[in-house]
Amino acid sequence: VEWRDGTLLILDQTGLPGRSERLAATTPTEVAAAIRQLRVRGADAIGIAAAYAMVLAALEPAAEDDPRGHVERWAVALTAVRPTAVHLSRAVRRVLAAIPADAWERRDRRAAAALAAARAIEAEDRAMSGRIARAGAKLLAAATAVVTHCNTGRLATAGDGTALAPIYLLAKRGHGLRVYACETRPLLQGARLTAWELAQAGIDVVQIVDGAAASVLARGMAQAVIVGADRIAGNGDVANKVGTYPLALAARAHGVPFYVAAPASTFDPAAAAGAAIPLEERDPEEVTSFLGRRVAPHGVAAFNPAFDITPADLVTAFVTDRGVIRPPYPGRLPADPPAGSQAG
Ligand code: MRU
Repeated sequence: VEWRDGTLLILDQTGLPGRSERLAATTPTEVAAAIRQLRVRGADAIGIAAAYAMVLAALEPAAEDDPRGHVERWAVALTAVRPTAVHLSRAVRRVLAAIPADAWERRDRRAAAALAAARAIEAEDRAMSGRIARAGAKLLAAATAVVTHCNTGRLATAGDGTALAPIYLLAKRGHGLRVYACETRPLLQGARLTAWELAQAGIDVVQIVDGAAASVLARGMAQAVIVGADRIAGNGDVANKVGTYPLALAARAHGVPFYVAAPASTFDPAAAAGAAIPLEERDPEEVTSFLGRRVAPHGVAAFNPAFDITPADLVTAFVTDRGVIRPPYPGRLPADPPAGSQAG
């Protein structure tokens, strides 16, 4: 996303890899729709987009009668669009908190304060990915291939990503890793987005169907699994793209380390365990269709949770912007709203 003179330009990820188009959002309604439709997606990226949506809310003519009420209502509405990633609610709360009490009545002042907070969230997200890259590169120093799931790179964050950031750094240092990218049904973030961005960067990416990941691990074709996260509970349970949990089970069964890369702002101690994390359920049509074409017989029902919970005991280590965290997790995971993050 890019903020330009009162407009949020959003790379429409639903068109990738075939079409690379940007949409121009000038209202929070348009940004909320783009987040809902996954035109912008990935935990960090939707937090950043929502932060800029708050600026647009502060600028709207509809804000004039009751500016604070209007922007607060948008904070609630944006949080509800995609409930699993904690970044979204943290980002909108941080923008709200950044507007001084005496600035609300002046359109220019409330918008300037909101914009400064949104820009800070974006800049801090870029910096966190560099720190995750350095921590993760050490863990993957001996690997020749890894398995990953969904998209956790340049399309999902302001920087090089979470789980993909160490891979970019290693490549820059001349250590090219092969990346087995799970296609990530139903919406193919792995096949469409991870394969696209890694191939563009000259990284050796091999696409597999989600069901092939266990066999790749069983055959010793990869030495680690590394994924991102949308929210991590106080006990270390991880919410991430559906399909992450079976990947963690397969990694455990084959003695392969399972790493979760995420900034401190992804840890949510308010959720004691995974069961307390809201899991987004999406339109069943995404499952019964493939690339817009109906594949299941008409009338067949589908269950479409967008995320799953991987229990903490399957996580070998967390790769964070504060370093690598290994078990036992209680007391070791980031618990405070971090200063340099999307926390508010
Ligand atoms: O539904 P998506 O594409 O937004 O899901 C994204 C993921 O699950 C990523 O793994 C997660 O956001 C971590 S990367 C910042």
